[in-house]
Amino acid sequence: MKNILEAPFMIDMIRTATNMYNHGWDERNGGNISLMLEEAEVAPYLDLDSVKLKIPTGFTAPELDGKYFLVTGTGKYFKNVQYAPETNLGIVRITAYGELAELIWGFNDGGSFTSEFPAHMMSHAARLKVNPENRVVMHCHPTNLLAMTYVHTLDEREFTRTLWQMCTECIVVFPEGVNVLPWMLCGTNEIGEATAEKMQTARLVVWAQHGIYGAGKDLDETFGLIETAEKAAEIYMKIAHLPRLNTITDEQMHLLEQRFHIKAREGYLAE
Ligand code: 13P
Ligand code: ZN
Repeated sequence: MKNILEAPFMIDMIRTATNMYNHGWDERNGGNISLMLEEAEVAPYLDLDSVKLKIPTGFTAPELDGKYFLVTGTGKYFKNVQYAPETNLGIVRITAYGELAELIWGFNDGGSFTSEFPAHMMSHAARLKVNPENRVVMHCHPTNLLAMTYVHTLDEREFTRTLWQMCTECIVVFPEGVNVLPWMLCGTNEIGEATAEKMQTARLVVWAQHGIYGAGKDLDETFGLIETAEKAAEIYMKIAHLPRLNTITDEQMHLLEQRFHIKAREGYLAE
């Protein structure tokens, strides 16, 4: 059996959690990540017949039956992931139409997966329908995106347009824009369902006064999406109180569409 701590997906996960912490997006236990794995990826490292614990999920997600997830633990600090991955991370297999998560590895101190498991699993199911290559759901609390939800309208078109206007390449990185949820109670199936619905039309979903969710085909893409949106929000928070003399116009956004072969979300730019 190979050493799971040397698996490429484990190294990638540890580096990403550390990087997110270093960016200030994950204070204390803030934030959570789930990375979908195929059985063939996990098999060389673990005895898949050895189930440590069967944990009821409290929801159904038949699309995810048989899938494996490397996921952060509830109450665990991102800053500690690199020093004790087997305590702060776990690998679960989803069974019984999504109603059961079987713990195969990790959470060594008796812990469990993130309290945001419903939002993660429901978002995976939603994104897989849009893009079968989706593997990652990531949640964190980036300072400027959060700040922006206190002073900017939460209208999705307006919120997206403001972010697009803050850096030239925003529209290239997330042409579908960002979707926004009003404040809701976190850790519930309700916010999970609402997030998954928003994930049908965008890979970024802002949780007002809380944080953001991102989804993508790998950890780098998902990190990059959040990083770009957060950078735009930082610029907005630096200039929001100042008179704006210049901006990126819709006409210029159309030039970016042509140059980068992307299509902005329908109706978000003037013709
Ligand atoms: P967990 O510690 O349960 O992952 O929760 C952190 C969080 O960000 C909740 O939204
Ligand atoms: Zn959170």
